[in-house]
Amino acid sequence: MIYFLNSSSYFLLKNENIEIRNPEWNYVANLSWEAFEWMYKNLKKSRYNELCISIEPNIGVPDFVEVLIRRNVFVKSVEKPMPWNYWGFETQLFHYAAMHTRFLSDPIEIDLQKIGMSDAPPRVSLRDELEYTRSVCLPHEEVKSPVGEVISRRRTVRRFSSEPISGVVLSEVVSTTFGVSQYVNSGFFGELPLKGYPSSGARHEHELLVIIFNVTGIDAGIYLYDDENDNFLQLNLSYNLDDLEDLTGRQGMTHSAFMLLTICLSERIAWKYRNPRGYTDVYEDVGHALENVILHFEDYAISAWLSTAIDNNTFKRIIPVGDSRFATAVVAFGKKA
Ligand SMILES: Cc1cc2nc3c(=O)[nH]c(=O)nc-3n(C[C@H](O)[C@H](O)[C@H](O)COP(=O)(O)O)c2cc1C
Repeated sequence: MIYFLNSSSYFLLKNENIEIRNPEWNYVANLSWEAFEWMYKNLKKSRYNELCISIEPNIGVPDFVEVLIRRNVFVKSVEKPMPWNYWGFETQLFHYAAMHTRFLSDPIEIDLQKIGMSDAPPRVSLRDELEYTRSVCLPHEEVKSPVGEVISRRRTVRRFSSEPISGVVLSEVVSTTFGVSQYVNSGFFGELPLKGYPSSGARHEHELLVIIFNVTGIDAGIYLYDDENDNFLQLNLSYNLDDLEDLTGRQGMTHSAFMLLTICLSERIAWKYRNPRGYTDVYEDVGHALENVILHFEDYAISAWLSTAIDNNTFKRIIPVGDSRFATAVVAFGKKA
């Protein structure tokens, strides 16, 4: 059995003994120098560079190790919840640090923050870093592809009109990107869904919530898009507009016609990609999915306002999903005011 040394624990060397402290648990363990020596000999780096000890069933474990295990200074590797058992402790710490970052919503606070930055915004380019032999003029002609035209036109819009959006258009766009267009048999990896956007290993770890304010033919409410059956499932939740403002960083996004909120079901991807790269793929995947959707709506002259400033505490309060799920992005849509 592998036990990880909890990474917020640290050692304090004293004359007589060594203390292991952990600020989270307010716990101090005293170790003798002999015990420290034992630990020093047995600690090694795990796959994720975390300190760990491997305890075989038949080896005698000193009492102090048992105490440290009881006190969670050493954490049983299998007890780590999904997805952190695969992605590791450092990714977990990073994830929670990022999730709990407070987003600036007050313009005065934003300006103060800028003033506080003593250095100028960096203006850097690989042009200045890499050596090149010549510069080739691109043979441009007028953009002919309809997709190219939509891409050139796209712009973030933050003020929407009160014009309702067609439920028919909404369902077309959602189904085209998030609906399952086919399944492929992938042997050991099972039946994989294929959708309108590329996804790392076709794990398709994101599900979509649709928050309707002003859409013709669909009542206001929060819906889960059921990708297998191409339905909207209206969720039984209790929330008000102010909760949704809290959820989206109090930026005024709720005056839109509807919002899309992507949720990562991390075990889908962590099971296959058992390293921190799997974690970064989550954000790559959601970017691809949402850009599809944004451009598709743009083609119908429906504008988008994307944000990652999601308050995850509010998210969990309104939408009671399990610990291994987290919100990855929110996009508000509507006609430009
Ligand atoms: C990952 C990401 C997060 C963003 N978060 C916010 C946000 O919280 N609030 C906001 O007003 N805009 C947000 N934006 C929009 C950007 O500010 C915008 O894309 C950028 O200023 C460029 O403008 P454009 O989209 O019109 O090209 C975000 C964009 C991205 C890609």
